[in-house]
Amino acid sequence: MCGIVGIVSSNTNVVPLLVRSLKRLEYRGYDSAGFAFIIEGKLVVLKDKGYIDHVVKKYNVLSLYSNIGIAHTRWATHGQPSKINAHPHTDCKGLIAVVHNGIISNYLELKRQLEEKGHVFKSETDTEVIAHILEEYIIGEGLTPLQALHKLVKILKGTYAVALLYANTPNRIYFAKNVSPLILAVSPTYGLLSSDIPSLIEYSRKIVVVEDGEYGFVEPGNIVLYKDGRPVNWRPRIHVVNWSVADIEKAGYPHFMLKEIMEQPRALYDTYSGILADENVVRAAKLIVESSKVFVTGAGTSYHAGLTATYYFARVANQLPHAFISSEAELYADLASEDTVLIAISQSGETIDTLKAVRLFKKRGAKIIAISNVIGSAIPREADITVYTRAGPEIGVAATKTYLTQILVLQHIAFHVGFLRGLYSESELKNYIKLLGQAPKAVEQSLQRASPHINRLAMRLHREEHMYILGRLLGAFLALEAALKIKEVSYIHAEAYPAGESKHGPIALVHQGFPTIFIGTPPAHIVEKIASNIEEMMSRGAFTVLIGLSCYEDVKANFKLLLGPCDEYLAPYYIMPALQLLAYRLAVLRGYDPDKPRNLAKTVTVE
Ligand code: AGP
Repeated sequence: MCGIVGIVSSNTNVVPLLVRSLKRLEYRGYDSAGFAFIIEGKLVVLKDKGYIDHVVKKYNVLSLYSNIGIAHTRWATHGQPSKINAHPHTDCKGLIAVVHNGIISNYLELKRQLEEKGHVFKSETDTEVIAHILEEYIIGEGLTPLQALHKLVKILKGTYAVALLYANTPNRIYFAKNVSPLILAVSPTYGLLSSDIPSLIEYSRKIVVVEDGEYGFVEPGNIVLYKDGRPVNWRPRIHVVNWSVADIEKAGYPHFMLKEIMEQPRALYDTYSGILADENVVRAAKLIVESSKVFVTGAGTSYHAGLTATYYFARVANQLPHAFISSEAELYADLASEDTVLIAISQSGETIDTLKAVRLFKKRGAKIIAISNVIGSAIPREADITVYTRAGPEIGVAATKTYLTQILVLQHIAFHVGFLRGLYSESELKNYIKLLGQAPKAVEQSLQRASPHINRLAMRLHREEHMYILGRLLGAFLALEAALKIKEVSYIHAEAYPAGESKHGPIALVHQGFPTIFIGTPPAHIVEKIASNIEEMMSRGAFTVLIGLSCYEDVKANFKLLLGPCDEYLAPYYIMPALQLLAYRLAVLRGYDPDKPRNLAKTVTVE
């Protein structure tokens, strides 16, 4: 996804700060980068296709001096990755520079109107219309930038987080926002805005989330926020983020993905401690018990966490919420009403598909429970109840620690639902919750035990182009997540499906040496079924891998790794770290950067 950063100071050179801050958004995924500064009263725009380091080197950016700048990483939506389509975009007179994250859905109509007025467009992007519209208002009609923004938000349709410089006001960065994320940071010396917290954390941990339809500017030591022509008091909305700069650095690891895999014991411990004291867990459980229909939704890994949650709801709460992929929401929203609860899972809290699913369900009177990792993000802001994971910032595009912390939160909620339903006593509830307290240790043991074996397995598999990942019940849900991890960072086509399905077609693909990874989870009665599925594959020459728990000690496979006791509630914490590590190792062995997988963004804020 595109990333935006803006920094203004009264007497400091912000150029190196802006470069460093923009690089902290690289994890969002991008194909081009650009900067705009005001230097001696003039706009200087430097941009190109390629990485930030390439642009900085090409234009010797660090040799410049400016007290104000905006910067952008582009994840192409309209117009191919190219220098001319990279942001910032300017007006005809070169007085206004704009960076944007989102999609202006009515840009073609606006572009046509502007061209009729004589505006000359240089790029194929939707963003450029913003620069020319502001030129019309500020330079053409003599409006102030604030008045111009007030008009702009009334005519733009679609999603946008916009930051802009106007050469005649060299100490203000203007902004406007609708749906796409934009945050401001409170500082006594700087004016700060960005798409995401990591880029500003070294300057301030006090953030203000800009709401839809709001606009304004930041200047050194000050924030001015408006909506519908009236000033907005932003001070009550300050969130203090408990992340540090260390949290967003690699801390000696070669990649964020490996750091975040290894951070999982800490992430689970912080999440466990946090939710023990979080009344929202019980509030969410009560809401679920009072409702007659429960849905779970998310995208990608968050959807997989939701699927896993349905397994635990079925096992302990005698209830099977319906899980659906958030981009498919309209089919399910029609079934929603006042007696419906939607559990919306999103580590970023900004995924547009999941946000739109939330809005569809809310329109039909449903109540929303959000599970998110980012305080104050869009989905929690629209939810009735939010239970936050406490995984710390997840920079790697591949979700790892946020996935397991999501499962931990969802297990807690399921246990409380079962208790509220009278399915077991309070002391049994306490035992369930005490059991989950072992999750951090389980991950730690798994990582220690798995690491050398996973390196060997990755060596065997890294030249493969296809593989199956199979499991039963809980294992089938974990297999989906393992396959996504492997696909998205190593580009191996890993396909997951329930192990019992093989003979209904998929086994036709199996040939000599074809890799089939089996996930060995409880309950005990499926062990022999998995064993016969493995046998089925081995008899056709497949290279069979079994990654599971102690109940599989008598099961044969070409490669076997048992990671912990046979406990279905702790199974994800023993098994998934090994599969996350496998995905990571495969990516590195295949020569890819697991932190910047091609075509991917950390958060998908455009449909
Ligand atoms: C997971 O590794 C991917 N990065 C992706 O599928 C991700 O889980 C999905 O985009 C949802 O993101 P969210 O949790 O921030 O909503």
